[in-house]
Amino acid sequence: MNKPLIWAHRGASGYAPENTLPAFALAAEMKADGVELDVQLTKDGEVIVCHDERIDRTSNGHGSIGSLTLAELKKFDFCNRMYAYEGTRIPTMREVFELLEPTGLTINIELKTGIVFYKDLEEKTVRLTHEFNMQDRVIYSSFNHYSILKIKEIDPDALTGFLYSDGTYDMPGYAAAHHVTALHPSVYNLQYPHYMEDCVAHGIDVNVWTANSKADLLYCRDKGVHAIITNYPAKAIELLGKE
Ligand code: G3P
Ligand code: MG
Repeated sequence: MNKPLIWAHRGASGYAPENTLPAFALAAEMKADGVELDVQLTKDGEVIVCHDERIDRTSNGHGSIGSLTLAELKKFDFCNRMYAYEGTRIPTMREVFELLEPTGLTINIELKTGIVFYKDLEEKTVRLTHEFNMQDRVIYSSFNHYSILKIKEIDPDALTGFLYSDGTYDMPGYAAAHHVTALHPSVYNLQYPHYMEDCVAHGIDVNVWTANSKADLLYCRDKGVHAIITNYPAKAIELLGKE
């Protein structure tokens, strides 16, 4: 039986505050194969890890990432109402590389360029990956496929995935035409006709998000996906096992 890789969505975000160092450390402790995280740029041009364009939902601060400097962002608490983690700060991408480099985990870096088109986010992120010599362990994804093609221009050997949701016709053919490594569909997008067969035929990996329930985890495993992105890596590993 196929055993998919387990990637912790925003770190082990079912158990620790999303997109923080404790959530990434926990993913490693739980023996996940990788983590998924989201990157944006601060006002002073630092690559920072955060899902939303604003910090209001996940911290005790207010405002948009792009209007705050790194020093300003570091003042806020990102425990996101998980009070056991009070005092947790927003991590830079550099801090995540420092934490995960020794662990062997894969990092799926999602470029959040859907709303704000951050200048040079792609260049800065690739530069960091190369500085840590992690090219083989980083896969870039984005809903903004221009960002992914830019990554490929900067580093033609980079591992890449198109994120998408809903309805586009022949995504496997589109992915193959643009020579990306993978597609990153939502769970319900696995239902499209002969989707998995077409991905296999084109040599495209399928890394699916976000499977949290037992039923979804088993469904993705049975479909034969390459990786499952989940908030609950411990639960997924217990249910599906590990290579
Ligand atoms: O990369 C998978 C998933 O994270 C995409 O959606 O909104 O959770 O970043 P979102
Ligand atoms: Mg994401």
